[in-house]
Amino acid sequence: MAFWWPLLVLGAAYAICRFLLMLIPPNVPSIDVDASDVLEDGSQTKENSYIYIPRRGKMAQTDKVQCYEPATMKYLGFFPALTPDEVREHVAQAREAQKIWASSTFRQRRQFLRILLKYIIEHQELICEVSSRDTGKTMVDASLGEIMTTCEKITWLLAEGEKWLKPEYRSSGWSMLHKRAKVEFHPLGVIGAIVSWNYPFHNVFNPMLAAIFSGNAAVIKVSEHASWSGCFYFRIIQAALAAVGAPENLVHIITGFAETGQALVSSVDKIIFVGSPGVGRMIMQKASETLIPVTLELGGKDAFVVCEDVDLPSVVQVAMRGALQSSGQNCAGAERFYVHKDIYTSFVAQIVKLVKSISVGPPLAGRYDMGALCMQEHSEKLQNLVNDALDKGAEIVGRGGFGHLGGDAVDQFFPPTVLVNVNHTMKLMQEEAFGPIIPIMKFSSDEEAIKLANDSNYGLGCAVFSGNQKRAIAIASQLQCGVAAINDFASTYMCQSLPFGGVKHSGFGRFAGVEGLRACCLIKAVVEDRWWPFIKTVIPKPIQYPVSENAFGFQESLVEALYGLNVWDRLRSLIHVVKIVSEQTPKSENLKKRQ
Ligand SMILES: *[C@@H]1O[C@H](CO)[C@@H](O)[C@H](O)[C@H]1NC(C)=O
Ligand SMILES: *[C@@H]1O[C@H](CO)[C@@H](O)[C@H](O)[C@H]1NC(C)=O
Repeated sequence: MAFWWPLLVLGAAYAICRFLLMLIPPNVPSIDVDASDVLEDGSQTKENSYIYIPRRGKMAQTDKVQCYEPATMKYLGFFPALTPDEVREHVAQAREAQKIWASSTFRQRRQFLRILLKYIIEHQELICEVSSRDTGKTMVDASLGEIMTTCEKITWLLAEGEKWLKPEYRSSGWSMLHKRAKVEFHPLGVIGAIVSWNYPFHNVFNPMLAAIFSGNAAVIKVSEHASWSGCFYFRIIQAALAAVGAPENLVHIITGFAETGQALVSSVDKIIFVGSPGVGRMIMQKASETLIPVTLELGGKDAFVVCEDVDLPSVVQVAMRGALQSSGQNCAGAERFYVHKDIYTSFVAQIVKLVKSISVGPPLAGRYDMGALCMQEHSEKLQNLVNDALDKGAEIVGRGGFGHLGGDAVDQFFPPTVLVNVNHTMKLMQEEAFGPIIPIMKFSSDEEAIKLANDSNYGLGCAVFSGNQKRAIAIASQLQCGVAAINDFASTYMCQSLPFGGVKHSGFGRFAGVEGLRACCLIKAVVEDRWWPFIKTVIPKPIQYPVSENAFGFQESLVEALYGLNVWDRLRSLIHVVKIVSEQTPKSENLKKRQ
């Protein structure tokens, strides 16, 4: 019995060929993107590098978006605040481009992604430096939050994107046994996104990649707090579109304030919003006028739960990253720490020791662990949260130190701050802080930890740590939130096959993952004949017009034959159905009888 030998040889040959093919590097063209004006020592003239000191409170002008480096307050330039008419013009251009792109092949779309990936990997430093200048975050924070997340998303789309956008076959049930049921995923048209400033690179690429890969156009309004970098990143996208021969108007980056955003909501086919619950409500209200779908990611107040059976030093490092990544300006940053009473004292001691070693300063001027806050007056808001907690009995047990800040930007920095004796009466434990604050509370039982962690208006993410993985999973499964990391922080976002989004005031709808990709689509249910043209739909005689006298009797039997719980009743009804159909008098006689 050796007939399977050839098969084995063929199989092995196939595997070897696949492996050898993998070794051949794909042919991906490089793109040129002019970056001379965004580099610190580039072509920037003396005139436009003066120190920009905006008026506190209101923006001085509303027809221009003024950009400055938060860590130094150095002026970066301005961009126009687009009028509603201008926004509609951008969307109209995107709509025309999408009609062409809708018929692009997945092969072409993948090439677009590969070109971007190649550029990103070869220009990590440039991309991170631009992000760092515009937001104040460190190069390491930018690498983790901008580069890795985006590369992960591109890699996932390359590997699986097509699979999840192909028609998906579903069961068709008894009555439709002769049919084939499927779901098709068509582009929606123009996807609009209004994105936050905390990750100016990833927040632009994230909706753009999903929209373009699923055959849509994208118009993205970048935040007024991070427009400078967004406009540079746009050049990368344009160059990659040109390199694959895609229509040049397929992606637009627009700048402006609320009016610009509103006009975008009312002219696109779907809106993705990343921001606060307050603005989220306005977006939804505006979207109700045109009845377009919305995805709202409105931030969180994520709990970080630590049981007593953990390897403390490693969890403490994760906790620090969870709280201080991007100066704490993360949608899913760790904002509430619940630690088991048995290890509470040593957890606090280890956190305090590390926090005291943290050095805060302008990230491009030295080796700093943490950079600036992006938004003006944010440090004031953070201090108010801390003060409210102190007034109610909380205590600061550790703060990080400042490096050389320079006089103009001191207000843009906030030291990492550890608080104990906190509870849920304090605003610090209720409102999203979006800053490097670590409030730590004690718990005695898993039930108590669940109750505390779940006690929030927000429900974006959580992180639960225990030496016993089952116990951590059990705790996380009780929490009302959209993403849960077991013995890790933000690991769900690094698995780009997974959806991202929350419940409660954290919003609804999902971006990222299969769900986020399909959310860019018109989801169409299609039923076709399974054995066409041999078996076609024929309306049974008794219910053909004009209906026969026993039409309802026929229906009754048919229903029981299809759905009856008892197999014998079903068989009996089936026989009855067949009988009625075969006894059916020809139509002409039927008519005569009625008359
Ligand atoms: C909250 O904490 C403060 C300080 O530890 C304490 O004085 C206060 O009684 C606590 N409130 C509640 C409701 O537990
Ligand atoms: C979690 O909170 C929600 C409301 O936010 C509540 O309905 C649910 O019962 C809570 N679950 C637990 C286990 O406390």
